[in-house]
Amino acid sequence: MRTKLIAGNWKMNGSLADNELLCKAIQAGLAGPAASQVTAIAVCAPSIYLNQLQGLLAGSSITLGSQDISAHDKGAFTGEIAASMLKEFGVRYAIVGHSERRQYHFETDAVVALKAKAALATGITPIVCVGESLAERESGKTEEVVKRQLAAVIHENGHCISEIVVAYEPVWAIGTGKTATPEMAQAVHAVLRAQLHAASPVAAERVQILYGGSMNAANAASLLAQPDIDGGLIGGAALKAADFLSIIAAAR
Ligand code: 13P
Repeated sequence: MRTKLIAGNWKMNGSLADNELLCKAIQAGLAGPAASQVTAIAVCAPSIYLNQLQGLLAGSSITLGSQDISAHDKGAFTGEIAASMLKEFGVRYAIVGHSERRQYHFETDAVVALKAKAALATGITPIVCVGESLAERESGKTEEVVKRQLAAVIHENGHCISEIVVAYEPVWAIGTGKTATPEMAQAVHAVLRAQLHAASPVAAERVQILYGGSMNAANAASLLAQPDIDGGLIGGAALKAADFLSIIAAAR
């Protein structure tokens, strides 16, 4: 039985004051006797705030994630942040290959695979994002696209592929309020699970495959009820404590 993982991707949002309010509200919501430990919870914050969040989340069940990671160990890579640096701030997860990084920062499948490798080498779990655009879905290419994206990561990291997390994020559902139906999402998750199985049956059993793309308090339960949906990568709804808490509750 895989534990569910609910991870917030704050994207480029927050401030020192807002982060503190949000973390305290989430922690207060999780504090009651009803809180169970069966769901893992993470927040992936802008790197500049990781130090603040490490302090705010100390001693809580909420783990810390980054939204990106460098493929390089160290050196002349202005603006990049190495896995070892993230590790110093208690980072447990790193999102790699988010569609916004693929689109606006021209990250290729090969670069995403190397970022996953850098994370794994440091003991940080990469949350590998895959997903098709609307045009790709409409031309029947969904399966081909997500399999190509995941194949690059498997190729580079085959020996430790059971240590990754995968997030299926259809690009057309991100920030649009349009969600894949539970059946549509499950169909893609099953494809990804089968691909993992071909690489390693152990990985297929272990790897959490999250859904991301307008997951919210209203639709979380039906998505999370699908057999191959092991959690969520939440954008907008992760910025409101009540919504994020509802999604966590739906995962239990
Ligand atoms: P939304 O939940 O805002 O659609 O964002 C999803 C996402 O991109 C998470 O990484």
